[in-house]
Amino acid sequence: MGKKILLEHVNVPNIHTYEVYRSKGGYDSVEKALKMAPNDIVEEVKKSGLRGRGGAGFPTGMKWSFIDKKSGRPRHLVCNADESEPGTFKDRYLMEKLPHLLVEGMITSSIALEAHLSYIYIRGEYMWVYRILERAINEAYANGWLGKNIKGSGYDLDLHVTCGAGAYICGEETALIESLEGKRGNPRIKPPFPAVVGLYGNPTVVNNVETIMDIPWIVMNGGDEFAKIGIGKSTGTKLISASGNIKNPGVYEIELGITVEEFVMSDEWCGGMQTDRPLKACVPGGSSVPILPANLLFKTAKDETRLMTYESMADGGFATGSMIGSGGFIVYDDRQCIVRNTWNFSRFYHHESCGQCSPCREGTGWLEKVTWRLEHGYGNMEDIDLLWDIQRKIEGNTICPLGDAAAWPVAAAIRHFRHEFEYHVRYPEKVKDRKHFEAEPWEKVKHLMELLYLPILLDLVVLAQFCIMLFLNYKQKLCLFMF
Ligand SMILES: Cc1cc2nc3c(=O)[nH]c(=O)nc-3n(C[C@H](O)[C@H](O)[C@H](O)COP(=O)(O)O)c2cc1C
Ligand code: SF4
Repeated sequence: MGKKILLEHVNVPNIHTYEVYRSKGGYDSVEKALKMAPNDIVEEVKKSGLRGRGGAGFPTGMKWSFIDKKSGRPRHLVCNADESEPGTFKDRYLMEKLPHLLVEGMITSSIALEAHLSYIYIRGEYMWVYRILERAINEAYANGWLGKNIKGSGYDLDLHVTCGAGAYICGEETALIESLEGKRGNPRIKPPFPAVVGLYGNPTVVNNVETIMDIPWIVMNGGDEFAKIGIGKSTGTKLISASGNIKNPGVYEIELGITVEEFVMSDEWCGGMQTDRPLKACVPGGSSVPILPANLLFKTAKDETRLMTYESMADGGFATGSMIGSGGFIVYDDRQCIVRNTWNFSRFYHHESCGQCSPCREGTGWLEKVTWRLEHGYGNMEDIDLLWDIQRKIEGNTICPLGDAAAWPVAAAIRHFRHEFEYHVRYPEKVKDRKHFEAEPWEKVKHLMELLYLPILLDLVVLAQFCIMLFLNYKQKLCLFMF
């Protein structure tokens, strides 16, 4: 069993209640933080090497040190609990099971940032979790951990939980801030970054639920202890929401650095494939990250063991690697159709685009349309190149990273599974059956063989030419020798 930082007490009965949580050492980190200088807490977080668990993996201590303290304006900490990335469900689990750990993390982190008004922004669909958090916050107020003069320290903090209205884009930090201010959740152009101009124009730090829940442990045990877990710049533990064709879907806390193979195959985690069907592909970090084919999942292109770390998962760049992202780990067996999956993701991003910039607004629509017609057997070969072209024109040309998030899955699907897109063009009648890969594995093999025929034929022609030349050369030498 690996080290547990977040889930150590998750199975303790009634751990969601204040009394039980406190009996397990809950809120000790607040007592300790109140006696520390705020900058010392920031230093511990820097030493820990903790990287943001919301997807981008930006170092948390560094982000905290960017907060503008010179302006003298009030500062805010905002917890991003919008969790809407397809395949990711770890924050929901954390908040449902351990609401007081989030409240404790919010208080300890607010002390470090010298913030006196902090927020948790939770997605609208998590209404029952909202109520769980509301109750935990009320209990914290009732026990003197929130409000004026916390535990006689002279430090004041108010914490509110606010609900979104079901838009994925409100997970983007600047859109979240707009939404929190009561406006439509449109991302802002950066710079200025929230650390300088954030909520109500004040310096603001936005952090993911899991990131904030790691803080109490770091304060209690020190940044160095946290940094001892994991490998290199991937320190600590990480929550992974595992789903798809595996035996044990669920939320797991892993020590960063275990092998991907161990994570997928071991009974401690995913438990291997759900049935005897072979592993086909994996989306390792939520729907936005590139899909990896089976041959690049356990080993990198350099034939090195692929690890569950930020660096190893990205090894090979987007050509042969991917990202650990938000930890939404989706496993596919050979019954799953990559074209359908790509269409499904494209549909999502088109629906969720806020529409501010044309490459994203128009481009995601085109991605959806073209993947739809390929999936349903109405596409042609040019459509595959058209898709490639559209995604290239979106990537890097938008206000926020939703555009990239829509482009990357399409690019990776074509890069690694082009033959499947071609199959959809060649056999339009067959792909109308949703379970075509399950029903006709032989057709797929035949198609792959057909794709290989031409290169093999050309190779044979070149080989034959070479043999004839050798033979002629030999004959010529033989003639010269005889005369
Ligand atoms: C479209 C989009 C959606 C996002 N959704 C989330 C989300 O649901 N939760 C989250 O923590 N970060 C999300 N992010 C990342 C945030 O913008 C931000 O980087 C993150 O909350 C920072 O926290 P961290 O440093 O602790 O990871 C999203 C980003 C984009 C572009
Ligand atoms: S990239 Fe898309 S979601 Fe982001 S601001 Fe532009 S239109 Fe809106």
